[in-house]
Amino acid sequence: MIRHLLSAGDLSLDDATLVLDTAEEMARLTEGRSVKKLPTLRGRTVVNLFFEDSTRTRTSFELAAKRLSADVVNFSAKGSSLSKGESLKDTALTLEAMGADGVVVRHSASGAPYRLATSGWINACVLNAGDGTHEHPTQALLDAFTMRRHLGELSGKRIVIVGDVLHSRVARSNVALLATLGAKVTLVAPPTLLPTGVERWPCDVSYDLDAALSGADAVMMLRVQRERMNAAFFPSAREYSRRYGLDSRRQALMPAEALVLHPGPMNRGMEITAEVADSDRSVIVEQVTNGVYVRMAVLYLMLAGTTEEAA
Ligand code: NCD
Repeated sequence: MIRHLLSAGDLSLDDATLVLDTAEEMARLTEGRSVKKLPTLRGRTVVNLFFEDSTRTRTSFELAAKRLSADVVNFSAKGSSLSKGESLKDTALTLEAMGADGVVVRHSASGAPYRLATSGWINACVLNAGDGTHEHPTQALLDAFTMRRHLGELSGKRIVIVGDVLHSRVARSNVALLATLGAKVTLVAPPTLLPTGVERWPCDVSYDLDAALSGADAVMMLRVQRERMNAAFFPSAREYSRRYGLDSRRQALMPAEALVLHPGPMNRGMEITAEVADSDRSVIVEQVTNGVYVRMAVLYLMLAGTTEEAA
């Protein structure tokens, strides 16, 4: 298993399969039990280092670490007046002095987790919980886990990812992981919301959502990331929804068993209607539950066995 989880692209097929199978085991060990705690990471310290807002990812990592009996420290670096490089280094040195074994980091700067992992400032394992517009590997793993539970092995499955690909670390990580797992990915987005170089990504690109939906096994809607937009990328919210939003009419174009995913937080009424988000095809709430199992798996695989006394 890799030492740091920085990019979904760093995971081999064997690594990814091991994480997904271990997550399945974590689900089996905790689902339906009144006591959900396992002793596996007793004595280990996991630090959640969040330089950017988060609801589900931070609480999901926190719950995952606690269910494995690790000690968890939440470190919110928001509002620091230090420049980013300095604050990251100072924070890293502090965490090292505290004896952190795993550092879960979210940062608005793409590459911040790499800096932390390769700087020599800390010995802890670094887990990327979302860096700028770059990557969000545990989100891709929980998405794959959720799809695999419904669809079986993902090799050959057709996954359509729709919306603000340009600003989406979720899309980048998903394209990389799904390619490793052998799925066929189609991105659908307005041309203004596709990154340059997308033609070299291991996926297809389409501008016709209706056509892409008809052959999909799963459709993943992306949040329109207004906070990362410094210009007008589309004429109006209404126009965006009309062309790239998932509503009931479009949902009817999907095969009967096809799934609807969204990483959250949703802009209900923009990229997805409330009706679709709450429909029986939607696995959006399951994604949140599965996120805990996947993060338990990742923390277990990376942190257990890092010293001899680990179980
Ligand atoms: C995503 C993120 O932060 O990148 N959310 C999440 O982790 N659940 C997607 C988003 O913010 O749109």
